[in-house]
Amino acid sequence: MPFNTELTRALGIKVPVVQGGMQWVGYAELASAVSNGGGLGILTALTQPTPEDLRKEIGRCRTMTKNPFGVNLTLLPALVPPDYGAYAQVIIDEGIRIVETAGNSPGPVIKQLKAAGCTILHKCTTIRHAQSAVKLGVDFLSIDGFECAGHVGEHDITNFILLSRARQSLGVPFIASGGFADGQGLAAALALGACGINMGTRFMCTVEAPIHQNIKQAIVDAQETDTELVLRRWRNTSRLFANKVAKEAVKIEKESQTGKFEEVAPYVSGKRGRQVFLNGDKDFGVWTAGQVIGLIHDIPTCEELVSRIEREAIDAMKQTQGLFVGEGQQPVGAIGTVGKNTNNPGAEVWGVGKSKL
Ligand SMILES: Cc1cc2nc3c(=O)[nH]c(=O)nc-3n(C[C@H](O)[C@H](O)[C@H](O)COP(=O)(O)O)c2cc1C
Repeated sequence: MPFNTELTRALGIKVPVVQGGMQWVGYAELASAVSNGGGLGILTALTQPTPEDLRKEIGRCRTMTKNPFGVNLTLLPALVPPDYGAYAQVIIDEGIRIVETAGNSPGPVIKQLKAAGCTILHKCTTIRHAQSAVKLGVDFLSIDGFECAGHVGEHDITNFILLSRARQSLGVPFIASGGFADGQGLAAALALGACGINMGTRFMCTVEAPIHQNIKQAIVDAQETDTELVLRRWRNTSRLFANKVAKEAVKIEKESQTGKFEEVAPYVSGKRGRQVFLNGDKDFGVWTAGQVIGLIHDIPTCEELVSRIEREAIDAMKQTQGLFVGEGQQPVGAIGTVGKNTNNPGAEVWGVGKSKL
């Protein structure tokens, strides 16, 4: 049963599930698999060393899916920033019409993409930034709660508050990002006013995600407590998988007398983090993961995952509809008794005998 939300209508997708941009993960294999599964797959522009490489990757993705897919363009502070304008131009020239933007000072790039008729999903972690993006003319906000993987911002507001604030104060549609892995989450996001969800970590743990099997298994084995926040001291807080290197980085960050970033820099090197995905050694460098790792227990194909989320969300919504009775009708079941969780009769208990329970 296709969903009918502002997101599905605007993007021409079946299930309101977006795969967010992921550095060193968001290649054509993953984006096309998500789009083929009925969600929106997104290529990550900066995983490609040059704009010309992005052009080739877009072409490769086109041979792997006939469905719509997007491109993420992330603007982060760098000593030598990439030529964002050139990446945006390739996106436009290649006929991509859905772009996820994220990061600092996105104004010029959003202007460039909007002038070419692109639909923009802008990701941010505060309502203030969301309101600024609305003024820039973005079509959708992607509201990234404190649970999320990667750049969590400096205000630590979780999605229960952030999404309702978005509903109360934004005049444009928004999707919920951070902490989503299943259809119950999608149903909850829709109830809070979102028109879809964005997932990163959950899509890392799929058959088609082009990363080493050991890392997918590390996610399955992990609990929701297995992430670390690093670089808070420099107001560039990132949520990472709590491996040996991330823990060491946090220790140095807390104990450093000088407060110089150079002390921690070798530990948070992006180059070593990238190797993790290739060599499968989860402790080789730091890598990004969200608290949602505690909800991930298997490694399905993207199609299985998206269909499962669709099914679970529909079931959850039907289930909650059964929790109230019409005017003049009597509740079914005896008043004053407490039994099993009737709101969740089909509950599947994951991980019996494993670390998660
Ligand atoms: C490995 C990894 C790399 C990521 N890289 C980027 C990135 O380059 N740009 C970006 O906007 N978001 C990036 N993200 C964030 C995701 O797009 C998404 O917003 C986030 O994962 C949502 O939280 P979740 O992991 O709880 O689903 C990354 C996430 C992961 C897990």
